[in-house]
Amino acid sequence: MDAIEMIKERRSVRKFKNEKVSRETMKEIIELSRWAPSWGNFQVARYTLVDNDDIIKQIGEKAVHGFGYNIKTLQNAQSVAVLSFVKGKSGKLYADDYATSKGSVWEVFDAGIACQTFCLAAHAKGIGTCIFGVIDDKTISEIVNLPEEETVAALIVYGYEEGEHAAPTPRMEVEEIARFV
Ligand SMILES: Cc1cc2nc3c(=O)[nH]c(=O)nc-3n(C[C@H](O)[C@H](O)[C@H](O)COP(=O)(O)O)c2cc1C
Repeated sequence: MDAIEMIKERRSVRKFKNEKVSRETMKEIIELSRWAPSWGNFQVARYTLVDNDDIIKQIGEKAVHGFGYNIKTLQNAQSVAVLSFVKGKSGKLYADDYATSKGSVWEVFDAGIACQTFCLAAHAKGIGTCIFGVIDDKTISEIVNLPEEETVAALIVYGYEEGEHAAPTPRMEVEEIARFV
């Protein structure tokens, strides 16, 4: 799969086959995800891969703010990645103070880059993903026993897509989103 195809054919997948992705395949996807760039190359992104049905059920029941769309997706999901980041590093240079007016926002930025890299790597290996932002970070941290120094950035539901590949969602035109100066 070439890079253009990988970018353009990735979709948010919300219907999954009743089949687990092997841990070996997931390690290959993390191997690719770790090539994501990061502030100062601090590599703050972490991936907690949950393939236990009881834990996925708990996340659906307690940790998506009752958002029906996410509850429904989790009911047929085989696996969920909890994407987290190590706090307090990105955004800093030599001193302990944040280097820019964005303060610690760069850690979320790093997590976002890692997130898309994970989704593209998964897609290239035939695995569908859907990013969840409507989540309760604290409850998820407790459910998966996240280390104290990390914060949850997002969930990524993943698995083998059931049925037809999800249809493309509309995009704004280049002229609407880009300007040359
Ligand atoms: C930061 C972020 C948060 C998102 N949160 C959710 C979510 O909670 N539930 C969901 O079903 N999709 C969620 N999505 C998926 C978007 O709805 C989806 O990416 C968008 O509609 C474009 O469709 P596509 O991914 O198929 O190209 C999220 C995507 C991003 C990037």
